[in-house]
Amino acid sequence: MEKDVIILAIETSCDDTSVAISLNNTILSNLTAGQKIHELYGGVVPELASRDHQKNIIPVMHEALKQANITIDQVDAIAFTNGPGLSGSLLVGASIAKSLALSLNKPLLAINHMQGHVLAHFILKNKNQQLPSFPFLCLTVSGGHTQIVKLNDYFNVEIIGETIDDAVGEAFDKAAKILGLTYPGGPLIDKLAQKGNPKRFTFSDSKIEGYNYSFSGIKTSFLYFIQENLKSDSEFIQNNIHDICASYQHHLITILLKKLTKAAKDLNINEIAIAGGVSANSELRQQLLIYENLHNWKVFIPPFEYCTDNAAMIAITAYYKFLNKDFSELSVVPNPRMKFNNH
Ligand code: KG4
Ligand code: ZN
Repeated sequence: MEKDVIILAIETSCDDTSVAISLNNTILSNLTAGQKIHELYGGVVPELASRDHQKNIIPVMHEALKQANITIDQVDAIAFTNGPGLSGSLLVGASIAKSLALSLNKPLLAINHMQGHVLAHFILKNKNQQLPSFPFLCLTVSGGHTQIVKLNDYFNVEIIGETIDDAVGEAFDKAAKILGLTYPGGPLIDKLAQKGNPKRFTFSDSKIEGYNYSFSGIKTSFLYFIQENLKSDSEFIQNNIHDICASYQHHLITILLKKLTKAAKDLNINEIAIAGGVSANSELRQQLLIYENLHNWKVFIPPFEYCTDNAAMIAITAYYKFLNKDFSELSVVPNPRMKFNNH
């Protein structure tokens, strides 16, 4: 029998300071300190994010160890998010992880954030849980990414399609800003959409071929749509907020699923996962269950706590790297523009 592996994982790629403790492929604790400060600015302010990580990281780490009932000397390896993300934010996590690895004389594991989002599906929550089998497709949708990837193995990833401009999370957040909602707007649009009519308004579609996406034109057409309607009704937003959110959300989710369905059909793959912040979206989750029946798919929808940024997904990715003995040098430097295939 293999020896148990305990990992302390740190995620500081954007505005969430998160630390998780894992035991093999299970999570003992996963703690996140969010940063409310960015709501005031309508988006993440990198300088403020780094400062808050610096303030939060040690208390979050102590609490994660306490909740896991693990002492730091029991930890077998230290993992951290090495990119993609905001440079200053990544540096905070990297520096703490390196200091720990050096002082405790434990191996260091540098983890790709996007791989983390996808591999979160391998976190074992209960014994009867079915895990994805290779190859499977994953729609990774976050504030910075929109991709359809094919996983041939844990670290063998093919990019099938991706956005040529904005990420779908940005399309949610920017529309929310136009509507006067706070950042991040995705969850608010989702909430307001629950009471709205998704067929009431229509928006322009992008004409992009193949499996790629484009969201910047849709965002602009949304802006014009709002401006146009405000000319005749200054209270257009307040009076129609639910229908606006429902229709816009429906439009974005329809586009996401159209390309995903095409990829699944063409590649003849029926195990389909979603990952990243936008995978928390209720319409995407509901539609995927409908598609599961319609197309005979087997779908993998992450639990809410593993949708948005969290260190548990970094821990599980680190666990598989640990098994491969794929350790990092202490001189490793975070890569804010890291691609899916870098690890
Ligand atoms: O993965 P994530 O936490 O951070 C990045 O790596 O970007 O994703 C954040 C994104 C934001 O754009 C946020 O608005 C979006 O995920 N998001 C949602 C929902 N929850 C989070 N978008 C739509 N519906 C949601 N329920
Ligand atoms: Zn993320």
